[in-house]
Amino acid sequence: MTAKNNKQQINTSRINPSSTDVVRVVQVTDCHIFAEPAGCLLGLNTRESFEAVCKRVSKEEWKADLLLATGDLAQDASTEAYQYLADYLERFDFPTFWLAGNHDNTQTMQEMFNNSKVLPHKQIITEHWQIILLDSSVPEMVHGSLSKKELAFLEFCLNEHPNKHSLVVLHHHPVDVHCAWLKNIGLKNKKAFQKVIEKFDNVKGVLWGHIHQEYEQQHNGIPYIATPSSCVQFEPGSKEFCADTKAPGYRYLNLFSDGRIESVVHRVDNVEFTVDYSIKGY
Ligand SMILES: [Fe+2]
Repeated sequence: MTAKNNKQQINTSRINPSSTDVVRVVQVTDCHIFAEPAGCLLGLNTRESFEAVCKRVSKEEWKADLLLATGDLAQDASTEAYQYLADYLERFDFPTFWLAGNHDNTQTMQEMFNNSKVLPHKQIITEHWQIILLDSSVPEMVHGSLSKKELAFLEFCLNEHPNKHSLVVLHHHPVDVHCAWLKNIGLKNKKAFQKVIEKFDNVKGVLWGHIHQEYEQQHNGIPYIATPSSCVQFEPGSKEFCADTKAPGYRYLNLFSDGRIESVVHRVDNVEFTVDYSIKGY
């Protein structure tokens, strides 16, 4: 399939941010919602923590222009989990754009995320920026990979708007994040991904979820950024799976018109959560 065909299949969304100088983006990730409202991950009710995160988002001093929901949105890929998410996200007065994680089912998401606020577009265009959302999920696998189609779509978008700053978004980590147990469950074809990125000088940031922890490092002069889960956190630097005691959170990003990205992680520290830290897997 050619990049042109990809482009025809995946519509572009044009956003007019409230400011001409900055696009304000909220990233909420790894919500792990269950069909069952009482569903818990490591003892933590994921609907309660997601709702606490969303309430904190709605109190942001500067209202977001859009929300990026970056995968593992459902734990069980159920229609009930996606319906709950679609209904909840529809309450915001800005749109949500989404991509799939290893726990998700892309087709079910496409079917269930069909309201006026939860949008299917994978290329978001503003005056100065484009945001490109890639599907790195591989059915039945925990690791990620970008198909030829996804890589062609990325290349097409970067080619199409050489004068726009670009933020590339996916679920799996495309670099080593210094946790031994996460090494084999990141993006498998990270070299192919890097090869595309290196061809262009308009990529100003790479953003993902999956690792349930805060991460930000420069690679080849580009910020590579990951964000805590809206539920359970994983301990940075751990050799084996280890839940962290940090609170659920999200990231607020400012994409400036000169290509700079400034971002901050916010957590819902004022809400009590019960996480079973004795569990050694997820
Ligand atoms: Fe996750």
